[in-house]
Amino acid sequence: MNTYILISDLRKKLNEPGNKNKSVGFVPTMGALHEGHLSLIRQSKQENDITVCSIFVNPIQFNNEGDLSGYPRMMEQDSKLLIEEGVDILFAPEVDEMYPPGEEPQLDLDFGRLDKVMEGKYRPGHFKGVAIVVKKLFDFVQPTRAYFGKKDFQQLTIIKHMVSSMKIPVEVIACETVREPDGLAMSSRNLKLTIGEREMASQIYDVLMFTKANVETSPVKKLQGIAHKRLATNPAFRVDYFEIVDMQTLLPVASWENPENIIACTALYLGDIRLIDNMELFS
Ligand code: PAF
Repeated sequence: MNTYILISDLRKKLNEPGNKNKSVGFVPTMGALHEGHLSLIRQSKQENDITVCSIFVNPIQFNNEGDLSGYPRMMEQDSKLLIEEGVDILFAPEVDEMYPPGEEPQLDLDFGRLDKVMEGKYRPGHFKGVAIVVKKLFDFVQPTRAYFGKKDFQQLTIIKHMVSSMKIPVEVIACETVREPDGLAMSSRNLKLTIGEREMASQIYDVLMFTKANVETSPVKKLQGIAHKRLATNPAFRVDYFEIVDMQTLLPVASWENPENIIACTALYLGDIRLIDNMELFS
């Protein structure tokens, strides 16, 4: 595996004559890699000639300093995992390489309501930060295909919107959420949970499964309220939201019409750790 910290070196490698007509699969990450990331990498390896992975903890997508400074960083271990998976190129830039001092990071794109609801409401500016870094990474890597997990469903929707609005020539591939045996969605943040919190965290999956099992038995709003209450009755949880929304608009649905487009999304704090998850209710 070749590791680059400079954009120029990354481009030099990808521009080598031998790489000219090769397909490039790209897996952007913030490191602290787990099976979820590895499943994206394995899919990229199957579908492309070259697989590039990036590790960059993007400061402009964090809303608070504590969350940024506490984000798990384990470059050596990550690098080992990537070698084991057969990743061809790791791009691991420093902050100044991605955001040269004096340059104001910006992206002239309106996301409409997509970045205002759910995560957008609780983490203002978060998706703008994600979109800016992903656009830059796409410019540097110029991938044929880019792989994102469905666990960050709103992020995936926003990236798809950016790609289609800005006509970026990349195919966005949505990959299934990878779960622990008890159902908890894999996330780098799980590492920060205490043993007790980790045990409780699987209740998020249980409530999503409960919701899925009870669709159409009651009106959407009522079921949403019951699910929210199930989570909120655990005093260890501080629930930001539990919403049943349309998968395209991310707006709340009023009925069970268009079932193939309905997803439940939730976010809550367990101690200091904010966890998100979602489930397509009719798939
Ligand atoms: O999902 C993530 O890990 C990040 O939001 C991403 C897409 C790598 C951008 O920093």
